[in-house]
Parts: sequence; C-alpha cells; structure tokens
Amino acid sequence: MDRSGAAALPRGSMRSDGPDSTRSIGRALGRGATAGTVLALVGELGAGKTQLAKGVADGLDVRSVVNSPTFVLMNEHIGRLRLYHIDAYRLGDPEEALAAGLIDERQADGVVVVEWADRLAGWLPAERLEITLLAPVPDPSVRELRWEAHGPAHERLAAMAMGVP
Ligand SMILES: Nc1ncnc2c1ncn2[C@@H]1O[C@H](COP(=O)(O)OP(=O)(O)O)[C@@H](O)[C@H]1O
Ligand SMILES: [Mg+2]
Repeated sequence: MDRSGAAALPRGSMRSDGPDSTRSIGRALGRGATAGTVLALVGELGAGKTQLAKGVADGLDVRSVVNSPTFVLMNEHIGRLRLYHIDAYRLGDPEEALAAGLIDERQADGVVVVEWADRLAGWLPAERLEITLLAPVPDPSVRELRWEAHGPAHERLAAMAMGVP
C-alpha cells in the first residue's frame, strides 16, 4: 500500500548492455505472450523501443521485417499470434478519433506493442505491461528497462521474461 492506500503495482527493472540484450528481452516477452498481451513502451527517441519490438516479433515467430511504422501508425504482422505494432509518435492528441481505431478490442486475439505509449494515455487497455526504457549512465549501449504490470496475466509475463536479470 502506498500513502494513498492503493496497492502498489508489481514492478521491477532490468539492465540491457546493448541492442542484442534488449532484443533478447523482447524475444522472451514474445515467447511468453498470450492473446491479449499489451506491451506499452515508453522512452525517448533512440531509447530502444523498436529493438525491443523486433525481439517480441522474433519470439512470436514473425517472419516479416519489423521497423518503426514511420508513415502509418500501425503495422500488422503474422506470427504464432498476430502482432499489432503501433507507433504513436505522430499522434498529436490522444483524444483524436484516430486513437480510438488504433487500439481496438479485436486486437485481443493477438499481441499489441505500442511505442510512445504515453501518447495514448487513457486509450490503452487497463491490462498491460508498461516498459520504460531509460539511458541511465553516459554509456551509449546501456539501457534500464523499468516495468510495471497491470493485471495478473501481465504480471506472470513480466515475472517470466523480466523477473530475473
Ligand atoms: N541497450 C540497448 N538497447 C537498445 N538499443 C540500443 C542499446 N544500446 C544502443 N542501442 C542503439 O539505440 C538505438 C535504438 O533505436 P530504436 O530501437 O529505433 O529506438 P526507439 O524505437 O526507442 O526510437 C539503436 O541504434 C540501437 O543500436
Ligand atoms: Mg521506434
């Protein structure tokens, strides 16, 4: 319980020593993902959100190339489960009607990975795993991945993929 009386959400943090390390964390998330998994990625440009998304795709046996969806807001990939890769960078206002179409209940059949998830605040499903990527030290290859699980399924996924550094 915190001072407001609300139970603290399960959370943790992991260190990544380079893009391969971030990808392998993503791969573990992709392997453990189930229908309805939502990964909400937060972090500055170059933080490693797309590297993580590529790993998730790999763990889902996606064969197509995963890049930041530059000119579209969402790319769909076929894998063990369908992967919906959203990039909310260009989204001006999360209230935009467009946002309503970006997060759709039909995506519950697959896995949603959202880059710039903070720009979709309020539109994200309640059950999700939020991962914030930070560059905590002046080393260009180190990242800290802080996670916070919303809901039991995402807590299990985090424990499985991110529990042990
Ligand atoms: N530990 C790390 N994890 C992820 N990317 C890293 C790491 N160290 C260095 N990088 C580099 O940082 C960049 C991350 O780019 P990208 O994944 O596209 O970021 P974003 O999608 O958050 O803008 C890549 O050039 C990658 O090689
Ligand atoms: Mg990106």
